[in-house]
Amino acid sequence: MNIVVFNGSPRIKDSYRVTNKILDIMKAKEQLDIEYIHLKQLEIKECIGCMLCFEKGEELCPLEDDVLKIKEKLVAADGIIFVSPVYACHVTGIMKKAVDRMSFMFHRPELVGKAAINIVTTGGGGQNPTQKYLKLTSCGWGCNLVGMLSVISPLYFEDSDYYNFKYSNKIDKQIGNLTDKFIDSIGYSKKPVPTFYDLFMFHGLKSKALMFKADYEFWQSRGWLKSCYYYETRLNPFKRLFGISMDYLINIIYKRFFYLH
Ligand SMILES: Cc1cc2nc3c(=O)[nH]c(=O)nc-3n(C[C@H](O)[C@H](O)[C@H](O)COP(=O)(O)O)c2cc1C
Repeated sequence: MNIVVFNGSPRIKDSYRVTNKILDIMKAKEQLDIEYIHLKQLEIKECIGCMLCFEKGEELCPLEDDVLKIKEKLVAADGIIFVSPVYACHVTGIMKKAVDRMSFMFHRPELVGKAAINIVTTGGGGQNPTQKYLKLTSCGWGCNLVGMLSVISPLYFEDSDYYNFKYSNKIDKQIGNLTDKFIDSIGYSKKPVPTFYDLFMFHGLKSKALMFKADYEFWQSRGWLKSCYYYETRLNPFKRLFGISMDYLINIIYKRFFYLH
């Protein structure tokens, strides 16, 4: 199993320790290859907004740095752990900078079918908007998000003055459950039935193919332009109707306001 840790912590401490607990449980059960992408140790230049990656492809980005190497590692993964501490009620700056630079993956989701979990550590608050953003990112890039874990570091770690035994035990149980689910979904060949959120992302992201040539070619090459989801799946009538309605509305809006292929 090739597990990639996509880590946005500048100091690589609390969230790294929580992530390693998960990896230790996994190692006891599975043969693992672990690739740590510590964003702070890599060269990631700020996006200059030229839109070339959207219009023509990310390989034409004028900024030369480690972003394409990061993408290749994510694409090669069987499972991905998205990690960020809360900074000012959101993901860290380095995480946001990396996601900005990889925005083309919201247009051309290359991580479809990869199991993912999100880990957030916090001093006490801000975990909800941070998790929401990581969820948007992992699902928007095509991952099968298996679960999310938020940890209040001062209460969790035994070496903290604020350590709380009950809280720490509760989180350890959550870590165990989440890890089991993560392992199961990596080895599981049956693909999960998409939720409404997944369908919303799929149809919303598909709309980019109406605007950008590179996106159109990508979605067409995958056979996703006319499909109900990224893969064959049984959708109940409500979900089917939801998808058809979204496609219909998006087509009307795009025909009215944007150039159509
Ligand atoms: C610049 C900065 C901003 C932070 N902002 C918040 C915040 O808004 N809310 C919060 O509860 N904790 C905040 N924290 C605390 C961290 O989220 C917390 O210490 C976390 O466990 C750090 O994880 P790490 O060691 O993996 O970087 C902040 C810490 C720093 C350094």
